[in-house]
Amino acid sequence: MQRILLDTDTGVDDALAIILALNTPEMKVEAITTVSGNVYVDFCTRNVMLTLNAMDLGEYPIIAQGERQPLVKPLVTAAHVHGSDGLGDVTKLHGPDGSRSYPDPELRLAAASAVDLIIDLACQHPNDLVLVALGPLTNIAKAMDKNPNQMRNIKEIVLMGGAFETYGNVTTTAEFNIFVDPHAAQRVLDFGVPITLVPLDVTHRVMLKSERLKAECGVRSDRLAKFLRDATRVSMAYHHQREGFDGIYIHDALPIGLIARPDLFDTADAFVQVETSGQLTQGMTIADLRQGRPALKTNARVCVGVNAEGFIEHFFDCILST
Ligand code: RIB
Ligand code: CA
Repeated sequence: MQRILLDTDTGVDDALAIILALNTPEMKVEAITTVSGNVYVDFCTRNVMLTLNAMDLGEYPIIAQGERQPLVKPLVTAAHVHGSDGLGDVTKLHGPDGSRSYPDPELRLAAASAVDLIIDLACQHPNDLVLVALGPLTNIAKAMDKNPNQMRNIKEIVLMGGAFETYGNVTTTAEFNIFVDPHAAQRVLDFGVPITLVPLDVTHRVMLKSERLKAECGVRSDRLAKFLRDATRVSMAYHHQREGFDGIYIHDALPIGLIARPDLFDTADAFVQVETSGQLTQGMTIADLRQGRPALKTNARVCVGVNAEGFIEHFFDCILST
């Protein structure tokens, strides 16, 4: 059983990752922390609660709200992808009786900030807690600055981020999570705990097609199936228009899959750096991933391959198993 802490800028693919993690038997979600990214952090926190409420959970993970602004840059959001509420605009949906389909949830939050909760849990579970970072790395970098000794207890950081041998998705060179807070990303890479990056190079190979979603949960009337349909509709429209396919990329679900099913992925050791000041390339991740050229020094593992169909099978096996 791997203990994890999910740090998330809860957008649509983050929500799918949360659902997958909480339905992965090999995993125990100790806590969920939120950070500004896809939308501002208060919306991310609300989205975490709405996502958890879509499931029949016996107990909830600890939830703590995190940083509202990146370390240095002003925040850039992605409401055009995830909807103005960050969750496919489900908060605007109304039932036949006119009541809101997803009313604002009761926020059951820890008194601690996300940064303090991350430090506390690292201390409580020395070398047994994996941080799964699904948004900008602001909270994690601040936790490392605030208490480096405790943060060295972290077993591993598995993060969705970066683009190496493929274009970026927010500029031609940068992936969103790294672009939003490149200074935090470099800080985390320099810190020295084991890091695995799951970049666009592999997440762009895994598409949750609308046909598949319909086939798997189109006729189901349970709350989770309805949430999956409602929360993905806006992002489906974005991907149809901008990416040219009927479905969505489920970027953030892949780090969860990597932990539970490493057999579905290929990785390579590399020396990863982040461009923090380039005018055209800020947020770009740089590493030499050429086959057969082992890096002279390494600071991270990078996912370079994925069994896309195998992962989609795994995704639905887990989330619709109940
Ligand atoms: O580039 C994709 C990443 O940016 C995902 O984590 C998505 O949720 C956004 O945060
Ligand atoms: Ca995310």
